[in-house]
Amino acid sequence: MNDEVPVLDYAAVMQAVTPERAIERVRDGFIRYAKDEWTMPAKVYLDSPPHGDFRAMPAAGHGIAILKWVTSFPGNSTRDLPTVTGTILVSDTDTGRWLALVDGRSVTALRTGAAAAIASQALESDTAQRVGLIGSGLHGRWAGACLKTAGYEEGVCADINPAASRAAADELGWSVGSLSEAMACDVITLVTPGYEPVMDASHLRPGMHINALGADGPGKAEMTVDAVEQCELYCDEWRQASHGGELTGAASSGRITQERVTELGAVLTGQSPGRTSDEVVTLFDSTGLAIQDLAIVRVVLDEYHAGSIEAPAISL
Ligand SMILES: NC(=O)c1ccc[n+]([C@@H]2O[C@H](COP(=O)([O-])OP(=O)(O)OC[C@H]3O[C@@H](n4cnc5c(N)ncnc54)[C@H](O)[C@@H]3O)[C@@H](O)[C@H]2O)c1
Repeated sequence: MNDEVPVLDYAAVMQAVTPERAIERVRDGFIRYAKDEWTMPAKVYLDSPPHGDFRAMPAAGHGIAILKWVTSFPGNSTRDLPTVTGTILVSDTDTGRWLALVDGRSVTALRTGAAAAIASQALESDTAQRVGLIGSGLHGRWAGACLKTAGYEEGVCADINPAASRAAADELGWSVGSLSEAMACDVITLVTPGYEPVMDASHLRPGMHINALGADGPGKAEMTVDAVEQCELYCDEWRQASHGGELTGAASSGRITQERVTELGAVLTGQSPGRTSDEVVTLFDSTGLAIQDLAIVRVVLDEYHAGSIEAPAISL
């Protein structure tokens, strides 16, 4: 007998999960993974040169196992296509039965934005107020939405495409500014395609916190290696960050080693104290983890079963 499973699209996911809930559940996911309650094998990259790559991202926890099949095609904005698209297969860890098919784009946007908010709250100096959002595409806007939900009321949006920064600023109630005006803020959030560094050592100021979200695969970087090396370093997961993240250039050239890098989960569980002084510059390298996706998918399924969202079902 074939199972009927719901297909939960972008609108259903966004209806089910507010930025506030995304932050709360993704934080819980980081903690559970740090405590070995959830499992996550390494993500697999399948290159599609010269345009981008595909990734297969599995994880299990909270009664479900997921596999996200997701893309990163950074040049797609010039073709009027999204940079990131994907689908998530959800199965039951007790029976192995297929439970749902979930849109990957909305889940990725929510969990990536949530990670930026969680890292900022955990690592910024207590006086941080203004967000400098550099790159105002889909993930920049959701990072802004989650940072605003986390209490950062003011921000400056900078983008090489003035229409993108204007749209983000209007949506968030923030202002549009130049790259240097955004860099003058307290919480810098980088969400560009990562082809070229946008931040160098001259942009670093004592007390600053940086979320580097755009470099989520091999060969991408938003900061120079000199700038990375001068920061106090944090990441979502060293295994990914050292091979396909903002820390990769510094790690592969031997300028940083794992001993200098703390995973966010260790800070959230209290195994690490986090920021060591008001003067250091903290850098959080977000490469994007399947456990973050799992945390969001669990909420979506719970809301579906509670009847608060509707979805068509298919049978294979
Ligand atoms: N860390 C993660 O978990 C994670 C998750 C999803 C996506 N990403 C990555 O984030 C990046 C952005 O994704 P997106 O979907 O928002 O892309 P997008 O194409 O929608 O947006 C990128 C924006 O950056 C702007 N931009 C490009 N170069 C710039 C520069 N030098 N200075 C300022 N702005 C610049 C573009 O004009 C565009 O508005 C991609 O590299 C993607 O792979 C990371």
